[in-house]
Amino acid sequence: MKVLVTGAEGQVGSEIIKECIKTDIKVLATSRSELDITKKNIVDSFIRKESPDIVINAAAYTQVDKAESEPEIAYAINKEGVINLAEVCSDINVFMMHISTDYIFDGEKKNAYKESCAPNPKGIYGRSKLEGELAIQSILKKYFILRVSWVFGIRGNNFVKTMLRLAKDKEVIKIVADQYGGPTSANSIAVTLVNIIRRGCNGESLPEGIYNYSGLPVTNWYGFADVIFKLAKEKGIIEHLPELIPISTAEYSTQAQRPINSVFDLNKIRKHLNIEASNWYKELDNVLDSFKS
Ligand SMILES: NC(=O)c1ccc[n+]([C@@H]2O[C@H](COP(=O)([O-])OP(=O)(O)OC[C@H]3O[C@@H](n4cnc5c(N)ncnc54)[C@H](OP(=O)(O)O)[C@@H]3O)[C@@H](O)[C@H]2O)c1
Repeated sequence: MKVLVTGAEGQVGSEIIKECIKTDIKVLATSRSELDITKKNIVDSFIRKESPDIVINAAAYTQVDKAESEPEIAYAINKEGVINLAEVCSDINVFMMHISTDYIFDGEKKNAYKESCAPNPKGIYGRSKLEGELAIQSILKKYFILRVSWVFGIRGNNFVKTMLRLAKDKEVIKIVADQYGGPTSANSIAVTLVNIIRRGCNGESLPEGIYNYSGLPVTNWYGFADVIFKLAKEKGIIEHLPELIPISTAEYSTQAQRPINSVFDLNKIRKHLNIEASNWYKELDNVLDSFKS
């Protein structure tokens, strides 16, 4: 099985490469400089030449706030780039796997979001990601979209790294405590995708459609930060525990609005694919270990 990964230097892309290398899957890692998904002709000829069995799109524009001031770039990558990939995959019959986000929902629902819930993004990032999902569904007969939330990992920018940076210079840190979700390690996403591909290598048919996936237990950013600081202190990554003050979303102004409720219903992936949510405490422990000097 040959798998081509876009965005291979990102948080999730880099973990997919690491996981594939542990298996007999032949993986072709492409960074933005090697394969810019917004360049239609290049995408087309590159994928035809390489002729993979599967394309995993881990490339994305992920700057939620910045997207509000540069929507054309967000759409070029998260919609048009995805269309470029989906069109060539459709033409030459390549299975496409794609990663999407909880930000396609408005977060107004009182309980967990199922895959079938109506999307209603609050900002440009979420809207551009939703357009990417919709394009895949209209272009491809066979595809797999994994919606994930609150991603953290070793590479790239994420909440864990921001908290560790803040703890170095601040004694008091205010954190939003009324947005709920499941922190999800980039590695657990990669493990999930690679497991699915390995089943395909063993003769099972690849699953199709949209699936939610996240870490558990559900928490809020304040609760997540609290665990990050305590574990980081225990491991000697930070010297002192900052004082944490819970605040509301209304007290923390950002360019883009975020969903209050990002909690996924995980029954579909559990029942259909026998895949359990990861435990983010354990995943965080592993990520923090990699930051120990
Ligand atoms: N981060 C989160 O909290 C989160 C939450 C939910 C869902 N997701 C989704 O999870 C997926 C992976 O996100 P991530 O956290 O791994 O993001 P990331 O760390 O920002 O990685 C995205 C990668 O895509 C690359 N890229 C950007 N534009 C490109 C282009 N035109 N052509 C090729 N590559 C391009 C980036 O390269 P450069 O560094 O050169 O820009 C980067 O390496 C995305 O679909 C994202 O929407 C993320």
